[in-house]
Amino acid sequence: MAPPILGIESSCDDTSASVVHDGYLLSNVTANQHVHREYGGVVPELASRAHQANIIPVIDRALRIAGVERDQIGAVAFTRGPGLMGALLVGVSFAKGFALAGNIPLIEVNHLQAHILVHFIKEKGRRVCQPSFPFLCLLVSGGHTQIVLVKDHLRMEVLGQTIDDAAGEAYDKCAKMMGIPYPGGPTVDKYAAEGNPDAFRFSRPEPGGLDFSFSGLKTSVLYFLRDREKEDPGFTSKNIKNICASLQSTINGILLDKVVEAAKVTGVSTIALSGGVAANTGLRRVFTAEGEKRNWDLFIPELRFTTDNAAMVAITGYYKYLGKEFAPLDIVPLARYSY
Ligand code: KG4
Ligand code: ZN
Repeated sequence: MAPPILGIESSCDDTSASVVHDGYLLSNVTANQHVHREYGGVVPELASRAHQANIIPVIDRALRIAGVERDQIGAVAFTRGPGLMGALLVGVSFAKGFALAGNIPLIEVNHLQAHILVHFIKEKGRRVCQPSFPFLCLLVSGGHTQIVLVKDHLRMEVLGQTIDDAAGEAYDKCAKMMGIPYPGGPTVDKYAAEGNPDAFRFSRPEPGGLDFSFSGLKTSVLYFLRDREKEDPGFTSKNIKNICASLQSTINGILLDKVVEAAKVTGVSTIALSGGVAANTGLRRVFTAEGEKRNWDLFIPELRFTTDNAAMVAITGYYKYLGKEFAPLDIVPLARYSY
């Protein structure tokens, strides 16, 4: 048995708090920061300030929804990194204060590991369906694109990763070129649903092995839009659905091919998706189809657990609590943090 654990996420532009008890989710509250939209990307200084303003109300609400009093929380887990230093500092400092005040253990969490462990969040009244070990996880977010071999809850090995941009970054940067506000991924997804994925061809960089590369794709979209706009002003807005569908299909093709390869190389056929880009409708569809064809045991998280949230931090905190992996009070956040 573990006590209720409070999880706090503040690595980028979402301030989130969650309570997990014995692996069961009691609450998951997130405040998104819309302040970044007009800048076309996350502004670190503004993110830190928004976290500072949001953190107390978000935690207060998470405790209330969970029906748990402050003094019933038995440990506090926080995202240590990777992420924006100023943003991380807000969550880390709050967690330290909370741990000190309640005289409870502090647990540091790797954000990437947390994205993967969403597959272990249990909810009362819902059938428990979790991947068995080992499994392969495609972790695709705004900052990371990796294929991870997950050996158990706390032992993971990166088999391949992007050598330049992340998949989410490719979505967001290409979207920006089309005049779509940040974060562009969800809007590209929406347009793509009504477009023809074979309308245009973009380059598919091939870095070899299980690694990914997206910067060449981004450049190819940039030149494509520039050249077509020259010939036909307004081309982008007139063809936005087909461009988005073609871009999405290219990105999803790259991601799927590498996972197929990883499954072949490792002989592992339990496959999971994680991270913000795992919300992509096309990605979920192509993986479902391929999974059926290849007889994969496939795990796709619910949409609310794809983008940044504290439930993933709290569930990781739960497993670390069971392993008694506690952090000292002088722990510092890490902008870069591998497994
Ligand atoms: O995991 P996440 O919330 O934050 C990071 O840890 O980076 O991922 C955010 C990323 C953004 O790049 C966003 O555009 C992308 O996930 N994203 C999507 C979709 N929803 C979010 N990309 C494609 N299609 C979506 N539906
Ligand atoms: Zn994330």
